Amino acid sequence: MANDLEVPDRPVLVIDFGAQYAQLIARRVREARIYSEVLAHSTPIAAIRERNPVAIILSGGPSSVYDPGAPAADPALFELGVPVMGICYGFQAMARALGGAVSQTNVREYGRTELQLTGDGGALHAGTPQAHPVWMSHGDSVTEAPDGFTVTARSPGAPVAAFEHLERKLVGVQYHPEVRHSPHGQAAIERFLHEVAGIPAAWTPAHIAESLIEAVREQVGPEGRAICGLSGGVDSAVAAAVVARAIGDRLTCVFVDHGLLRAGEREQVERDFTAATGAELITVDARDQFLTALAGTEDPEAKRKIIGREFITSFESAVAEAAERSPGEVAFLVQGTLYPDVVESGGGSGAAVIKSHHNVGGLPEDLKFDLVEPLRLLFKDEVRAVGRELGLPEVIVAREPFPGPGLAVRIIGEVTEDRLATLRAADSIVREELAVLGPQIGIWQCPVVLLPGVRSVGVQGDGRTYGHPVVLRPVTSEDAMTADWARVPYEALERISNRITGEVAGINRVVLDITSKPPGTIEWE
Ligand code: XMP
Repeated sequence: MANDLEVPDRPVLVIDFGAQYAQLIARRVREARIYSEVLAHSTPIAAIRERNPVAIILSGGPSSVYDPGAPAADPALFELGVPVMGICYGFQAMARALGGAVSQTNVREYGRTELQLTGDGGALHAGTPQAHPVWMSHGDSVTEAPDGFTVTARSPGAPVAAFEHLERKLVGVQYHPEVRHSPHGQAAIERFLHEVAGIPAAWTPAHIAESLIEAVREQVGPEGRAICGLSGGVDSAVAAAVVARAIGDRLTCVFVDHGLLRAGEREQVERDFTAATGAELITVDARDQFLTALAGTEDPEAKRKIIGREFITSFESAVAEAAERSPGEVAFLVQGTLYPDVVESGGGSGAAVIKSHHNVGGLPEDLKFDLVEPLRLLFKDEVRAVGRELGLPEVIVAREPFPGPGLAVRIIGEVTEDRLATLRAADSIVREELAVLGPQIGIWQCPVVLLPGVRSVGVQGDGRTYGHPVVLRPVTSEDAMTADWARVPYEALERISNRITGEVAGINRVVLDITSKPPGTIEWE
């Protein structure tokens, strides 16, 4: 399998020194509307030169520059004539490579720290308060800036907390400007990009969409045909929309209705997606097939495996149908892979990744397709922006993350038609009520979980009930890796509880999950 998608713009390269923050830095650069990519610190200088970067950012990392085998910054990096910004470990590695001094001062700074500007704070801090909070995480400190550099800030534990050499367009900071705990951090990154490096803000949704469409056209060629599995989620919908724009009716979309979706989602795909893109759609109604296959299974992983297997069978039959309908071989498979998956799988170098998460269970290996992954360079927020740019409706682009195995992992135990109907009804009420609150309460997703194995006594009207509970699991999160329980206003919780117990037969209790992740996962199964 190959992926020939051309990179559209010259990037700002984020050199990853092993920080969990490298991707975050790349995202912040994109927020400044400039294209960026992450590369491993082991990337040879020749390969870096070949990528022809407009600027380089050296990320933080867990090492001490004194650790044996600690990654160093190649001094040749600073001779490329490309503007460089060092952050945290990258700042120290930069100081060392250029002849400054880094010492173990025995003052560790971790967390919120006060940055004190020296002089006017230099190019990165112009216009910010003389002292302001930043997020620090370091043991060693730069104690002497390299020759020709001006020290622009210090902190209680870092005698040199920022420096610059504007003629050479080299700057660095000890703190983490990429995290929200550094309130002026994004401004510092943007000043580096726009003012020190002079890079225009050209990575706009319109420009991204246009370059992706062009790249797909080039990859698929004038005759090529492609197929795309739609999951009902944002990524596959936007990927398909890009490809539809690029190759028109040479794209066939396939939607497998496994019966585990939420209320109205099939209609969203069949009606709204098709209306917005004009793409040809084959819907496979596999609801009975999935229910039959899942009957009697209670274990979550076993359920996932069954769903994966059935998905493959359904998808294959749709591929066969597509082949019958139109002449010419379908040689390309469209996938909604995003940049974080590419980076996490060690890619960034063109490695083809099939994201099993997305496609429920992965696709069979003997499907001989070339992959088209139009979103493989994008972060989620960019995907949404491109979707809007291409005219996809808000119900699709703003959809909350939803697991591939769908409601099956939100029914604890066996999946049955009745349980699905009950959960779907409760879930719709929650979605309606949360929608009234709007996006400002910042919910990442809100699973509603049915506990068919638990019964409790209740009283409704004049009678005693013996029904089941549903659990609300509203969470806030940046990336689903960690999460906190969302503080949903009591009034909204009250409405949700009243409506579910009043309107959904068999449910007599609504409970709220107030566990963060870790230790709890977002889904219950
Ligand atoms: P957890 O439960 O691991 O979920 O905290 C993290 C994120 O992943 C989603 N999720 C899945 N997505 N297939 C998927 O496509 C799955 O099997 C699956 N399990 C969890 C979950 O909704 C959350 O966004």
